[in-house]
Amino acid sequence: MHHRQRDRNEDGEANAQPQHAARATAFDAAQKGREAFAKLECYSCHEIKGEKFPAPTEEGKVGPELSAMGPLHDPDYFAEALINPSAVIEQGKGFEAPDGSSKMPSFNDSMMVQELIDLVAFLRSLKPPTGAGHGGH
Ligand code: HEC
Repeated sequence: MHHRQRDRNEDGEANAQPQHAARATAFDAAQKGREAFAKLECYSCHEIKGEKFPAPTEEGKVGPELSAMGPLHDPDYFAEALINPSAVIEQGKGFEAPDGSSKMPSFNDSMMVQELIDLVAFLRSLKPPTGAGHGGH
């Protein structure tokens, strides 16, 4: 009985052969974070270029496109953005409600701690689809 989900091979994406355990762990966490992103329907407000989630639907509440996020912030920042969205609002982009709080809802009642960890790994793994090479060197 394996607890890791390795049977989700989409387009061979999950076929990467990590060189050592640390990479395998980071890879699994990012993969699980991707599933949490779908499960919690983060895509209803966030586009991620290069991913295959449905397009954002939340008229007037749409948040930033996230594909370039990974290298920009450290894990603490992403954790805080998820636990306390109003702590880190970029000003002047229509991301705040009239009372100054974030239009991003709190997920603290629906998100498991493990999902939070995996989501942070997923966000950290995001790189823009262009300018980042085509995999392989
Ligand atoms: C109802 C719309 C909505 C949903 C659903 C939503 N977000 Fe957001 N999100 C926003 C908005 C608006 C912002 C910008 C304001 C802010 O930073 O809080 C944002 C900001 C963020 C940021 C910070 C980006 C930056 O540039 O600082 C991250 C990371 C993020 N969201 C991830 C997620 C994840 C992961 C989920 C699912 C668990 C999610 N969001 C669900 C609307 C949403």
